[in-house]
Order: sequence, then structure tokens, then C-alpha cells
Amino acid sequence: MGTKIKLCALGEVPRENSVSEMTADGRKLCVANVGGKLHAMENDCPHRLGPLGEGTVEDGLVLCPWHAWGFNPATGECRESPQAKVKTYVVEVAGEDVMVELE
Ligand code: FES
Repeated sequence: MGTKIKLCALGEVPRENSVSEMTADGRKLCVANVGGKLHAMENDCPHRLGPLGEGTVEDGLVLCPWHAWGFNPATGECRESPQAKVKTYVVEVAGEDVMVELE
């Protein structure tokens, strides 16, 4: 089990079907709201290190803002390249806080 850290307040989460960059424990994460469900993953795109947290959500995937590679925010899998998986983190809502589990 990892350490749970406050990511943000519930009122600060990205609006539905969008992403934001957030920092937890000094680590920059891409936080995605896909259909009302929150996910967190590494912010650096494995292609050329584009900032995934500045990307968009399309058909349930987070698209990198630089060359539009798509990532499944639940698994981190990349549509374009199986080797380009990103790390994902468990997100949960606890009262008014949104927590992320970092290892
Ligand atoms: S840097 Fe993300 S798709 Fe190229």
C-alpha cells in the first residue's frame, strides 16, 4: 500500500472530460476527469515528454497536447505504442478532499 496524499479539494478537480496538471508530494501529475471519474497518471508523455495535464479528453482517452498520442487514464496504456505505458495512481474522494496514492 502506498502513501495517500491530498491532491486537491473536491471543488478544484478538472471539469468533466478534461485534464489538469497538479502536484502531489513534489510530483507533477496529470489528473483526468473522464465521464465524472477521476484518474491520476504521470504527467510526462513517454513520446517526447509532452505535458499530458495540458492535453484533452476524447473518447475516454487522455490525448497528449503535442502529438495527440492517446492514453487510457485507468490503465496508463497508450493507443499508439504498447511500450509507452504511463504510470497511474489511485485517486479517491475523502469528504471534501481528493487523495492520491503514491508509492
Ligand atoms: S510528446 Fe506526447 S505525443 Fe508526442
